Amino acid sequence: MPADFDTIVNLAKRRGFVFQSSEIYGGLRSAYDYGPLGVEVLRNVKDEWWRSMVRLRDDVVGLDSAILQSPEVWVASGHVSSFSDPLVECRECNARHRLDKLTNPDQCPTCGNSDTFTEPKEFNLMFKTHMGPVESEDNQVYLRPETAQGIFINFENVRRTARMKLPFGIAQIGKSFRNEITPGQFVFRTREFEQMEMEYFCHPNDAAEKFQEWVDLRHEWYLDLGMNPDNLRLRAHEDDELAHYAAGTYDVEYLFPWGWDELEGIANRTDFDLKAHMERSGEDLSYFDQEADERFVPYVIEPAAGATRTTFAFLIDAYTEEEVDGEQRIVLKLDPRLAPVKVAVLPLSKKPDLVETTQKVARAVRGRWATEIDITQSIGRRYRRQDEIGTPYCVTVDFDSLDDDQVTVRDRDTMAQDRVPIENLETYLAERLP
Ligand code: GAP
Repeated sequence: MPADFDTIVNLAKRRGFVFQSSEIYGGLRSAYDYGPLGVEVLRNVKDEWWRSMVRLRDDVVGLDSAILQSPEVWVASGHVSSFSDPLVECRECNARHRLDKLTNPDQCPTCGNSDTFTEPKEFNLMFKTHMGPVESEDNQVYLRPETAQGIFINFENVRRTARMKLPFGIAQIGKSFRNEITPGQFVFRTREFEQMEMEYFCHPNDAAEKFQEWVDLRHEWYLDLGMNPDNLRLRAHEDDELAHYAAGTYDVEYLFPWGWDELEGIANRTDFDLKAHMERSGEDLSYFDQEADERFVPYVIEPAAGATRTTFAFLIDAYTEEEVDGEQRIVLKLDPRLAPVKVAVLPLSKKPDLVETTQKVARAVRGRWATEIDITQSIGRRYRRQDEIGTPYCVTVDFDSLDDDQVTVRDRDTMAQDRVPIENLETYLAERLP
């Protein structure tokens, strides 16, 4: 079973992974700030995604498009007309709910009354703002609700300048915004969040095969980063669940404390988006295959993941409680690639010569791995803190270190300790850390 929800949220707040946005003003609901440790894990998740999707592939290139785009983009994509959820309001307590997420569509989960809902109203999820000093209909723009459209509208720019031949992909990581009716479950569903999306353009005849390839590759990515296979599954969308643009979709789902829920969707978007932008912009976004002497509009396979949501899932999955010598030990067994701190250097006492050696040791490894010096409190408490934040290796500088130039390295998972000469420390860690 996955970790208890409140326990994870408490750990995330207590140790500085995630803070409520605008906390000193009472908090802004459904927006979060990532603290010193959270920003490192989030960055590591995004880096791992970018490495596997862009750096390690010949057929995928990156992009960082603007959050603000022409409003025409969202008309063409169908978001202005169809990016909405059914909203109902309880006449008794005025609570608003998303009708399709209610277990009982006739009963208000807030006050418990039945048959008190208004008629469902389609509520568009896009945030609106204005460009320039005048607030009028003419200069209204949207905050992007997905990063994907920035990719479609740059298809031709990228193809031409990067000289890409089909099949090829364009990947992007960035913020998206949705005015969700019912945000919640901490950072799982927020109104401002980060996505990691890739649009893979191919010949329509290859789409079915590429779709299956990407479903498998994306499933594998989570497992490779240490996610427990029992907590991960693939689920095909039923026909009535499919988004307006999709011919087929698989969700990668994680067993969250409240049950199975989506981490990522892999969709066959067909030629819906490119055709829609061709029609609205008047630009030709078709592709000419010189070898086959054939012109066509590419199909698109889209693996679309949430960076913030995935980070949360990795934290939940890594959370472990164990009993050691009759005492409870909390360990975040994050894959070292995702751990916010890779090496903690701990002097046994605050004596200046120990601290000086500690700083020397930290300097020797800091350039290569995220390193932290922790000086205060007993060594036992410091080990416990490092276990709780998932630090794979603690290096202890003790009084003997001053004479023998050796340190003790403790492994987070096994708690085994090795005595290692300081001059060999980097090699020792390099054999164990990415
Ligand atoms: N371009 C396709 C697209 O955006 P989506 O399923 O709506 O598809 C992709 O979003 C991923 O983005 C989701 O699987 C989820 O991980 C993340 N996501 C979507 N809405 C979110 C929200 N309100 N808060 C956090 N993450 C969200």
